[in-house]
Amino acid sequence: MEENKLLKGKPVAEYIYKQVTDKLNLLKNKGVVPKLTVILVGNDPASKVYVSRKEKTCKKLGMDSETVYLPEDTPEERLLEIIADLNNNPRNHGILVQLPLPEHIDENKVLLHVHPDKDVDCFHPRNVGMLVSGNPYVLPCTPAGIIEILKFYEIPIQGKHAVVIGRSNIVGKPMANLLLQKNEHANATVTVLHSRTVDLAGHTRRADILIAAMGRAKFVKADMVKNGAVVIDVGMNRVDADNERGYALVGDVDFENVLPKVKAITPVPGGVGPMTIAMLMNNTINVAAKQNGITI
Ligand code: GUN
Repeated sequence: MEENKLLKGKPVAEYIYKQVTDKLNLLKNKGVVPKLTVILVGNDPASKVYVSRKEKTCKKLGMDSETVYLPEDTPEERLLEIIADLNNNPRNHGILVQLPLPEHIDENKVLLHVHPDKDVDCFHPRNVGMLVSGNPYVLPCTPAGIIEILKFYEIPIQGKHAVVIGRSNIVGKPMANLLLQKNEHANATVTVLHSRTVDLAGHTRRADILIAAMGRAKFVKADMVKNGAVVIDVGMNRVDADNERGYALVGDVDFENVLPKVKAITPVPGGVGPMTIAMLMNNTINVAAKQNGITI
């Protein structure tokens, strides 16, 4: 294994947690204990794991946290009522509605009801607009975590051709917008590819930084990657495996075959994964500070 090529997320997340802890102490000294409420509707096994990790991390850092578990058949109206209560509760600073939601619930409508000041995902249209216009209120968690990885490992972004595969509202689109920001840790030339892109491999082969975020196991093959590229794998695909759990986690990149060609690559698991929660904690503290008129 070419160990020095691996962009591991854990040391980057630890670096973020140090900053988060400092900011948290500052807030606590002013009498504010940030609180995040996570809402999970239904029984999706992967979502359950993510949600419990979020609560554990809050507790470990000394923040308040609550998880609202709702049955799969919860009416949309009930979910909107719960969100309205959280919006109106000054003791609660951050609201995260875990996605995906069951089919009978209109995701866009729900995300519109989360007060933008408490939106720790950067999903509300006001916050998406602020990001796109270059004045972000909060940063989208996974894309911001990817920027932190590139910063930590001193990989320049400015002027590079960054190619994002996937146009989801969670990763692809906000990632493209972060890479386009006018600052030294962005200023990339950005191409976004998706399921209807013609000659996808022709585009990926021109990437200096290739970000795979379309949720298809081992989709990016070695012949789709330029020699010396930096590859970020956002994929978390469960595939059947002959082990105790019955499944294994694999990324969107064919890691073993791509590794010899690249300058650097994030592993799955252990790459981008640890960053999402670290950035979520950071966002929760930042919004709690803003809601209390405190500069941290
Ligand atoms: N589901 C998968 N990733 C995320 C995320 O970052 N935020 C929310 N709210 N749901 C998700």
